Amino acid sequence: MSAPGRPLVRPRRLRRTAALRDAVAEVHVHPEHLILPLFVVGGQGRDTEIASLPGVSRLSVDRLLPLAERALRAGVRSFVLFGVVDDDAKDALGTRADDEQGPVPRALRALREAFGDDAVLLTDVCLCGYTDHGHCGVLARGRPNAAELVVDNDRTLLRLAAMAVAHAAAGADVVAPSDMMDGRVAAIRGALDDAGAFEVGILSYAVKYASAFYGPFRDAAGSSPGGAAADHHDVAGGPRPPADRATYQMDGRNLREALREAALDEAEGADMLMIKPALPYLDVLARVRAATTLPLVAYQVSGEYAMLKAAARAGVLDEVGAQREALVAIRRAGADLIVTYAAIEAAEGGWLA
Ligand code: PBG
Repeated sequence: MSAPGRPLVRPRRLRRTAALRDAVAEVHVHPEHLILPLFVVGGQGRDTEIASLPGVSRLSVDRLLPLAERALRAGVRSFVLFGVVDDDAKDALGTRADDEQGPVPRALRALREAFGDDAVLLTDVCLCGYTDHGHCGVLARGRPNAAELVVDNDRTLLRLAAMAVAHAAAGADVVAPSDMMDGRVAAIRGALDDAGAFEVGILSYAVKYASAFYGPFRDAAGSSPGGAAADHHDVAGGPRPPADRATYQMDGRNLREALREAALDEAEGADMLMIKPALPYLDVLARVRAATTLPLVAYQVSGEYAMLKAAARAGVLDEVGAQREALVAIRRAGADLIVTYAAIEAAEGGWLA
């Protein structure tokens, strides 16, 4: 026994020096754990900053290449591509989503040519950036005389499968459906296999909550439901597009449902699963981690990133410290990989853990 007032066990011993703390650290965040989102537009020489997402731009393919090269040099080897098309190229079916000359297939071919297999190329598969109503699927009349249209799950599957096949043909390593339709992993797997794309993987956004934290992304991708391009859907007296994504993205109150979604997507053939957003849903991430052996990806979404930037700009938080802590928390909760807009800053700044 120790003398009274003298602790026998002293956890502080292992916190005494930085070298000791590093030696016993339980998780690390390395550049190869990070996935950089890229917003791709058509044309040449385009670089448009996104006001609500500081430091992030929409780039044409020629401008994308130097940024990807910079990321690779810093050790960030994975990218997820989001296509952005002009409003006048959008329609009710999201026809441009599977256009082989669209921004994402063009970017895939250019990135692959430039970097070969050094880069891991993922693509977001979802219709919301290509539909004029801004929804992630095709709309249809549900019940007669209903005031709102509904998202037609099964017709949407055909569009998503076509989009995934177009991305695979252009060189994607992994397609990442983020639409939250039921059965889309199986539909996409079937279509990829029919096209001979057996080696192309699926990262399913299995657990994606309807979240207010996606706001800045929707500015970046021009994909708000009911956004500018949606106006002509407001036919007087006719059914309106749904005002939000609550009928397909998950309800933030549900945890068991997350396990169900994850199990379904695994059974349908997903190679990796996404949990999204990250920080407000770390409990969900930890529970899914315990329930599957698949690699897990967490998405530090636009609102999470923008919030830290705004707090730092207001002088309220130390950005580097807060961002490092957030990324560590996401890894500690069970993520193998993290999608983050801060990937390059974090890797170049050498402030990862
Ligand atoms: C497309 C999609 C969204 C995000 C990723 N893919 C937006 C949405 O569902 O509205 C959000 C990413 C972010 O906020 O950074 N469906």
